[in-house]
Amino acid sequence: MQFRIIGIFIALVFIALSCGNDAPSNSSSPKAKTVSNPGEKVYRQYCVTCHGVGGDMQLNGAKDFKLSEMSLEERVLIITNGRRLMTPFKGMLSEKEIRDVAAYTMKFKKE
Ligand code: HEC
Repeated sequence: MQFRIIGIFIALVFIALSCGNDAPSNSSSPKAKTVSNPGEKVYRQYCVTCHGVGGDMQLNGAKDFKLSEMSLEERVLIITNGRRLMTPFKGMLSEKEIRDVAAYTMKFKKE
């Protein structure tokens, strides 16, 4: 009985120690996961649901970005205020985020 309790105690200490050791080893790769484009981060979080990762999913009648001729300013307006089934992002994203993500949607065309 005594042994069991000591064994559990040792196991707990071991778990606590091994958790504590995780922190420094994680910081060894700071650059690995940074997203290069800030607009891409916003896009993946808020826009892929309708526009898709490739910009051409067209769910809910969303426009295919590969075919869009729209200017950056027009895109900023649509993202800010929404249009038909697209929700306005005015309260959800900052002006800078909207501009970044609008610029990101222009990249699909070249591919
Ligand atoms: C709920 C689904 C939905 C989400 C989420 C969504 N969109 Fe849209 N988007 C649409 C629809 C639908 C249209 C077409 C609107 C229309 O009828 O003209 C559209 C149109 C656009 C257009 C205009 C393209 C063109 O040439 O007409 C842009 C730019 C755009 N979306 C960007 C975004 C960005 C950036 C996000 C993320 C911040 C986003 N959308 C999120 C549904 C969505």
